[in-house]
Amino acid sequence: MHTETTTSKLGVIARYQEYLPITESTPIVALGEGSTPLVFCPRLSKRVGRAVFVKNEGINPTGSFKDRGMTVAVSKAMERNAKALICASTGNTSASAAAYAARAGISCAVVLPVGKIAIGKLLQAFACGAKIIALEGNFDDALRIVRELGEQRDLAVVNSINPDRIAGQKTAAFEIIDDLGEAPDFHLLPVGNAGNITAYWAGYREYHARGRSTKLPAMIGFQAAGAAPIFYNRIVENPETVASAIRIGNPASWKQARAAITESHGAIDVVSDEEILAAQIWLAQHEGIFVEPASAASVAGLFKCCDSKEAAYSFQKIPEESQIVCTVTGHGLKDPDVITTQMKELKSVPATLRAVQRAIEA
Ligand code: F0G
Repeated sequence: MHTETTTSKLGVIARYQEYLPITESTPIVALGEGSTPLVFCPRLSKRVGRAVFVKNEGINPTGSFKDRGMTVAVSKAMERNAKALICASTGNTSASAAAYAARAGISCAVVLPVGKIAIGKLLQAFACGAKIIALEGNFDDALRIVRELGEQRDLAVVNSINPDRIAGQKTAAFEIIDDLGEAPDFHLLPVGNAGNITAYWAGYREYHARGRSTKLPAMIGFQAAGAAPIFYNRIVENPETVASAIRIGNPASWKQARAAITESHGAIDVVSDEEILAAQIWLAQHEGIFVEPASAASVAGLFKCCDSKEAAYSFQKIPEESQIVCTVTGHGLKDPDVITTQMKELKSVPATLRAVQRAIEA
């Protein structure tokens, strides 16, 4: 019997097992996650005057970085004989949990703020057979209830409050160092529930401690302006942003994110919805990388750092030879609503060479 998922690509457990809480008796539930492209972006680099790489986490089995943590969390849940999985989600965690639950042959319930989940993500959870609970509340309400349910036996919570999720997600930092041969100078990423910034920082520190890199990056996180509890240092009761994935007012890993920012001499900043959507389109049209709005927060933040003296971290003082990595966390096809409204209505043309030529030139 095959123990690995695919014959051509190792998942993160197979690739980084020695760094993960995996034992002989852990049944490995994997879908070939991780080993995502670290793409050098020439136009982005030119625009900001620094070398910029994009870590494209949309290229994971369910289209987001969540799969790295989910393979570990679900494998460990199976080892502990969990009878079902549960999570709260703004969409991607539920899509990932549903897929890994299907792979493991275990049931999965996902608690989602009603009407607030991008259509692609909802479809993923539905297609993979998760029990979908549409909650009359926001993500923070959903997570509070899931935490309480998690105290029941046999139910494994696969949100990032589960340390196995963080352990899996730190492998993205390992991959970046393996690809670059060194840690970058700056790492920029969107922040919602703050698990990912926590995981990256753990990964960078761990590789550094093992001598795999000689330096540590400054971690710079970006929240949406209407959902920025860490930036403003207070809970946001009714978070609002077009970037539904990071519409979170009381992040679970708030303290850990603060520690990552302080220890790495980084920063936390905000980007507006307009800046997020502009960055999403810019990245798609100049680098061919189509990401969901929340993911574009890292690129919007990069522009802010380079263009504005008001930024929490102004790159104007940063040496030009610096290397920057921006994580883009999820695929653009998951959340097509805004882009759809921006698309002009398509006018059809007759099936003739002339008509098509004219349409191309118009
Ligand atoms: N980007 C995307 C696309 C996300 O889905 C999330 C979080 C984040 C960024 C923020 O990461 O929470 O680790 O700071 N999504 C969670 C979910 C909350 O339920 O899918 P974080």
